[in-house]
Amino acid sequence: MTTAATTPAISFTHIDPSGPVPAPAIGWEEYFRTTPPPDFLEPAGKRVEEFVALHAKAGRRVVLVTSGGTTVPLEQNTVRFIDNFSAGTRGATSAEYFIEAGYAVIFMHRQFSLQPYSRHYSHSRNCFLDYMQEDGHGGLIVDRKYSDHMREVLLKYQRAKREHLLIMETFVTVQDYLFLLRRFTTAMSILRENAMYYLAAAVSDFFIPQSKMAQHKIQSAEGALVLQLDQVPKIISPLVDTWAAKGFIVSFKLETDPDLLIQKSRRSLERYKHQLVIGNILTTRKKVVTFVTTKEETKLELTDEELRNGVEIEERIIPELIRRHDKWIIQTKSQ
Ligand code: PMT
Repeated sequence: MTTAATTPAISFTHIDPSGPVPAPAIGWEEYFRTTPPPDFLEPAGKRVEEFVALHAKAGRRVVLVTSGGTTVPLEQNTVRFIDNFSAGTRGATSAEYFIEAGYAVIFMHRQFSLQPYSRHYSHSRNCFLDYMQEDGHGGLIVDRKYSDHMREVLLKYQRAKREHLLIMETFVTVQDYLFLLRRFTTAMSILRENAMYYLAAAVSDFFIPQSKMAQHKIQSAEGALVLQLDQVPKIISPLVDTWAAKGFIVSFKLETDPDLLIQKSRRSLERYKHQLVIGNILTTRKKVVTFVTTKEETKLELTDEELRNGVEIEERIIPELIRRHDKWIIQTKSQ
């Protein structure tokens, strides 16, 4: 028997047999037809179009990096929402290595998640004040023990800014994410095979459609709350088939059960027919990833010593991806 103390305030069931039959998952066309776009969509789309045009003219490769987790609001005037664990480390770290390798980066990330360069000094590490000291003349300097590393990061950051290699756009909800993804990938289509799509964001699989969402704060007077969530349409499908058809598309597959990872990664490739899935397990994602294609699997793994010495797995992921992108470009051009 479940006691009151252990009953969660919000309960999730896939299907409650005694409850109403859930609506079938809607397709992406219906989703976009029935969901209002965020009001910042057009200005963000225009900025990304300009960024893409600049780099297309220079013949530079551009990568869209999605990063961080999407939220699922429970109310239109949102007081409560469902969130996920993602801090945006994968995306922010990868963006730096892409820029270092000569790519221009559209960094589409969850508001307030980690960002390239500033991630080294985020609140989850030292407080930024710990890096500073008084200089004895009324000014401030960087503490000597941090200055070498900080100079290295600063120079990379300044180059990215000077050469306009990074544009940052934000989402919060899964709705924002879906609209931005469609807008940005469509804007990038002129880059053809020079575009890479690196989908590292942790995207909600379930949501409450606008039409079923309470307008105001859900009241607690009626007791326990049972939520029924609809399935989010699989957005990678139109992305591969239409919006980004010539680009090199990399999605991530996150699992917690290692026995499922490879089979689920393969299933994703078979279903969507994109170029690569990078499989990772929640607890080991900073140490090991597996590249899965229809033909092979390649594991990239850091040793414990490398991890202790601050080596980042993205340092291995990005060069390997670029090698595969090179091949993709040659192959696509010769078709
Ligand atoms: O941010 P960190 O803390 O560093 O963590 C990094 C990470 C673990 C979040 C990252 O490495 C990662 O695995 N990201 C993908 C997480 C995820 O959404 O996995 P999934 O198995 O639920 O989805 C797999 C793919 O389906 C994704 O590429 C996604 O684009 C796609 N998808 C998901 C939902 C949806 N509605 N439509 C989709 O097409």
